[in-house]
Amino acid sequence: MIDPPQIPYNLQFAVGHEVFGLVPGLIMYATIWLWEHNRVCDILKQEHPMWEDEPLFQTRRLIGETIKIVIEDYVQHLSGYHFKLKFDPELLFNQQFQYQNRIASEFNTLYHWHPLLPHTFNIEDQEYSFKQSLYNSILLEHGLTQIVELFSRQIADWVAGGRNVPMVIQAVAKTSTEQSREMKYQSLNGKPFASFEELTGEKEMAAELKALYSGIDTMELYPGLLVEKPRADAIFGETLVELEAPFSLKRLRGNPIYSPQYWKPSTFSGVVSFKIINTALTQSVICKNVKECPVVVVVVVVVVVVIVFFVCLFWVFLFIIIIIIIIIIIIIIIGFF
Ligand code: HEM
Repeated sequence: MIDPPQIPYNLQFAVGHEVFGLVPGLIMYATIWLWEHNRVCDILKQEHPMWEDEPLFQTRRLIGETIKIVIEDYVQHLSGYHFKLKFDPELLFNQQFQYQNRIASEFNTLYHWHPLLPHTFNIEDQEYSFKQSLYNSILLEHGLTQIVELFSRQIADWVAGGRNVPMVIQAVAKTSTEQSREMKYQSLNGKPFASFEELTGEKEMAAELKALYSGIDTMELYPGLLVEKPRADAIFGETLVELEAPFSLKRLRGNPIYSPQYWKPSTFSGVVSFKIINTALTQSVICKNVKECPVVVVVVVVVVVVIVFFVCLFWVFLFIIIIIIIIIIIIIIIGFF
């Protein structure tokens, strides 16, 4: 782990990646996925009692829950699409597909979504600045359940719309722009904007950009994505979503899990594991592992149950009314004869 010298020994952890200790969200996910790993290993052990640790570990690694979660929860949420994204490898089985592991550097650049970071984190009525939240301190003080609660409740900031790169991370945006220049990226204007006003949807930033760039056609990719006017009720502008979604979905679908040779229960040691992949969602992973499921998640479930209850009640009520009407009609007809 890369821990600066001032970090006390009790806040230093050894987790999967050397920067996982930096921010609470990373260590939170690392911990939850470690528990999920162990939970699924226990299920595999029940299915295959003779297996030793190594086959359990290697088989569990194949059970790719994240790909479903990334498509159905993460990409769905970020895209703002009104249609429902579905993880279903069989949809592509009649097509030739490239399975590859390449990624465009433009994708890396556009993915610098640091403006999403909120300026403060609020836990149990306490407010922490971005800097105060670093290096596990709030995790140890409040515990994992509270961190999950924080990440379930607190709304992220927005990427497009300008003036929102957090101060502490502005150097990264600068480096990213410099690297794009070195790599001679094309300008943003593959999607034609007629003016800076059209790009930003306002006048003030447009005037500042005019002073920096010789014209809209020279607007650079990354700064352009950051200042583009956001789509209605969205965190991104249209260009970012149009560029990001195909890159991202193509990368996900390029995984061998999507091939007819591998997408079958036997790859994952049987139907029980196959079902784990097919039913994985963020909510279920959290609720199966974290002691108290955050209220937000529970509230959603409760609301759904209540709605279903009332819908059922309505139909039962309607059914009873219809039966009563039929009985009355029968009585009237019998009386008539
Ligand atoms: C507290 C949260 C975060 C901190 C402190 C942080 C910090 C950094 C730093 C210092 C770098 C530069 C690394 C380097 O070039 O040596 C970086 C790169 C990057 N960050 Fe973040 N980041 C955070 C959150 C995020 C989020 C939420 C996203 C996107 C959803 C993101 C996406 C990226 C990407 C795509 C890179 C480039 C990685 C590469 O070139 O390999 N970061 N981040």
